[in-house]
Amino acid sequence: MTTPDTITIRRPDDWHVHLRDGAMLAGVLPWTARQFARAIVMPNLSPPVVTVAEGSAYRDRIVAALPQGMVFTPLMTCYLTDASDPDEIERGAAEGVFTAAKLYPAHATTNSAHGVTDVDSIRSVLERMEKVGLPLCVHGEVTDHDVDIFDREAVFIDRTLEPLVRDMPGLKVVFEHITTAEAAQFVESASDNVAATITPQHLHINRNAMLVGGIQPHNYCLPVAKREHHRLALRKAACSGSAKFFLGTDSAPHAREAKESACGCAGIFNAPYALESYLAVFEEDNALDRFEAFASENGPRFYGLPLNQGTVTLRREVNMAPEILDVNGTALVPFHAGEELAWKLAG
Ligand code: DOR
Ligand code: ZN
Repeated sequence: MTTPDTITIRRPDDWHVHLRDGAMLAGVLPWTARQFARAIVMPNLSPPVVTVAEGSAYRDRIVAALPQGMVFTPLMTCYLTDASDPDEIERGAAEGVFTAAKLYPAHATTNSAHGVTDVDSIRSVLERMEKVGLPLCVHGEVTDHDVDIFDREAVFIDRTLEPLVRDMPGLKVVFEHITTAEAAQFVESASDNVAATITPQHLHINRNAMLVGGIQPHNYCLPVAKREHHRLALRKAACSGSAKFFLGTDSAPHAREAKESACGCAGIFNAPYALESYLAVFEEDNALDRFEAFASENGPRFYGLPLNQGTVTLRREVNMAPEILDVNGTALVPFHAGEELAWKLAG
């Protein structure tokens, strides 16, 4: 069978990204904007984006940081807290500021200290979101100290997600950055109102990549990569052609020294080679014909947004990922650092 040397797909979107703020925002944004027409922007700044005014101001800062000539639309999210106000969130949706709201269980990950301590405390918010059709993006991990970190996603499904989806069948839920076979299975068998994003790293690495041959902080993110059989289940889901799974990088830049530290930050900066990384997976799994749906169609259809009009082209070309990138004065280690990628985004 011959394999193509170029692939052109409808311009994709990134349904989960951390763009940060200030100098870091200006440095990382072009990597995302050169590939993606739109992105769901995570609100876990410090302090987090909780009000309509904060969401709107953050969106303005992103647009202002775009290099001349780049066309990119940030889709903003509201960070839910125990004190979230249904009226404020409805107003944010009505005014076109918020495209979704994000549920971080308190203390689950970076800048989640203000997150939700108990889903029951935001029931009125979720009911309003269900009513107005605002999707809920979920970081699906419990934070109980007695639950092993490798089990936290599966336990979250049983304790929180399954009851939530049952009680609010009209609520659109994106189970973000899924990492387990259980999550893929849950999403596949749930209603059409439940979908999931999958990151490049969880399709490429298992937990050995983090722990074998010395600790590998640049392969550490949350939820952590799991056993190999989970990685294979995620690849199967991504490449299955099911409309429930779509691209969300969870690109999460942290300065090199913050990663290579006694208490290293969670997050993988995968924006620079995101499309090349995903494409490698679809090629290896003989699913090139399903790449476009995963990258460019399933997400907008779930969110009820129009498909993008332009295209992007990737060429088969040796593409060396550098060990380090200088991103506006900050050293960042990209995902695939030092590796040779088989594809290269044209332009
Ligand atoms: O690894 C992660 N990094 N997971 C998250 O949920 C947050 C993110 C970050 O903001 O750095
Ligand atoms: Zn994230």
